[in-house]
Amino acid sequence: MTRARILGVGRYLPERRVTNFDLGKMFETSDEWIQQRTGIVERRFAEEGVYCSDLALEASRDALKNAGMKAEDVDFIIFATLSPDHHFPGSGCYLQAKMGLSGIGCMDIRNQCTGFLYGLAVADSFVRLGMYKRILVIGAEVHSSALNFTNEGRDVAVLFGDGAGAVIVGPSEDPSRGILSTHLHADGRYADILRLEIWDISKKPYITPETLEQGRIWPKMQGKEVFKMAVTKIPEVIEEALQANNLGIEDIDLFLPHQANLRINQFAAARLGVPEEKFYSNIQRYGNTTAGSIPIALSEVLEQGALREGNLIIMVAFGSGFTWAASVIRW
Ligand code: ACO
Repeated sequence: MTRARILGVGRYLPERRVTNFDLGKMFETSDEWIQQRTGIVERRFAEEGVYCSDLALEASRDALKNAGMKAEDVDFIIFATLSPDHHFPGSGCYLQAKMGLSGIGCMDIRNQCTGFLYGLAVADSFVRLGMYKRILVIGAEVHSSALNFTNEGRDVAVLFGDGAGAVIVGPSEDPSRGILSTHLHADGRYADILRLEIWDISKKPYITPETLEQGRIWPKMQGKEVFKMAVTKIPEVIEEALQANNLGIEDIDLFLPHQANLRINQFAAARLGVPEEKFYSNIQRYGNTTAGSIPIALSEVLEQGALREGNLIIMVAFGSGFTWAASVIRW
């Protein structure tokens, strides 16, 4: 079976920088509190009127440019986001129209922080089966419209930022290079620990004035529970991915973890005995961009020339659901 490979990578971050000091003007917090617990210094926020599919469009153009391809070369779109333009249709359809690609298939993935890796796994399977040859996989978020910038929402509001990353997945001409395996997990018993409820479809009507009054339009998180589970599941799924490929931890050249909290990644690296510098981090500059974080990180690493042909990388994520996943790639 043909192996699938990432042929091009791109990213887009909105220009507007929002520092911890800026947030401190909106609610009671401090640069020290945020940096100490999360590592975040600043994040980017999209301007009013900008959709998730707009950020995705910019990241997709960058990925196509880096792959030396044109939009018309794309034959399928997979769009991972938890902040879609509207409830339906999926943001993949909006992006497809913006790219002028009417007719090709589009699929949205609603798997939060692991959405990109779930999308990559689907793209990998489609390419290996020979269904498609140039799949655009995007992770993009506009979080800034759905954060509660008051004392009540500050635990969540300080964590997130807007941004998009995109990759093109296609057949690998060299069978030793490409996506070696992906490992996907979820445990829905923890679904309510980190969620954005907004509506309750069992109620008629499903949104009422109380929805707004009770603040159900804002994300709610039990931060300590997320932290505890993340530092357990990230090393676990990395071990699983290593075992599946008969690899040792020392064989991996670079880890590209989802950027939820610098402390989570430091804990996970320490548990695995991996030097911190092998665990890429850019959360200091962007905060948590959920589905966008891994392709954004990959795009930066490539730009820095930190990844060479033949290098082994592991991408890993944990997030709401709970969901967690890892992907092993020989670059
Ligand atoms: N600024 C200042 N003080 C704050 C803030 C803030 N932004 N937020 C909460 N506090 C206060 C609390 O009110 C509390 O005050 P109290 O002691 O007077 O009651 C105090 O700080 C400690 O609050 P905790 O919630 O116990 O703080 P904790 O040490 O657990 O840190 C944090 C909170 C940073 C959110 C941490 O739990 C965490 O990072 N968890 C993981 C979260 C995460 O990664 N989420 C996203 C992953 S999933 C995904 O990416 C979708």
